[in-house]
Amino acid sequence: MHPTPDISHLTSADYEDVYEPAEDSFLFLDALEQEKDKLHALRPSVCLEIGSGSGVVSTFLSSLLSHPAFFICTDINPRANAVTKLTAKKNGMDVEALTTDLCLGLLPRLQGQVDVVLFNPPYVVTPSHEVAQGGIEASWAGGERGREVMDRLFPIIPELLSPKGVFYLIIIKENDSDDISRIFADFGFSMESVLSRRSGPEFLSVLKFFRNKDVS
Ligand SMILES: C[S@@+](CC[C@H](N)C(=O)[O-])C[C@H]1O[C@@H](n2cnc3c(N)ncnc32)[C@H](O)[C@@H]1O
Repeated sequence: MHPTPDISHLTSADYEDVYEPAEDSFLFLDALEQEKDKLHALRPSVCLEIGSGSGVVSTFLSSLLSHPAFFICTDINPRANAVTKLTAKKNGMDVEALTTDLCLGLLPRLQGQVDVVLFNPPYVVTPSHEVAQGGIEASWAGGERGREVMDRLFPIIPELLSPKGVFYLIIIKENDSDDISRIFADFGFSMESVLSRRSGPEFLSVLKFFRNKDVS
């Protein structure tokens, strides 16, 4: 098993402001490890994690790859960006982190450039007014169907990804994977379920999206 990043530098005070790695984060690590051979074959040069929180997912992927890649992490919560950089450094990795909504501050510079996009979004079904613009609340509140934040990212994914690029997304059952699959089918993308696990009341899945092969 590939080692889980060391997050012993993070304290309960950090977790008052930044999402503490939980079952969803660890499912993401397990899914990426399961995808290891495919990720090595992909040889990503540019990876982008949206909503990096503690930085545990990007740090893990960075250490899993067999060659250096440029990692960009974003979070709407500025505390998360500081913590993401610390986690990478503590584990001998290097990531860039910036505060922005989704990756809007980086478009259109990243257009067609990103080989791997990762997002463990705020997916919990909540009233729309709870969808937060920063702070720890932004970690979980997903609004209607838990989809209000991730839905804003979906149309940006085809713009961001390089021709060989892949997008990994965590969802729960209530987010409606069939509907998400239909949205991506309209963009010319296929969807696969990489790994699923029940955690208490949540049924979590890691989904993977990639461009349909040209069949002409
Ligand atoms: C469920 S947490 C995941 C954190 C970390 N990636 C992990 O797996 O442990 C969701 C993260 O997304 C961030 N977030 C929420 N809305 C966002 C937005 N509009 N743009 C960027 N980040 C956002 C939150 O601040 C939080 O850090």
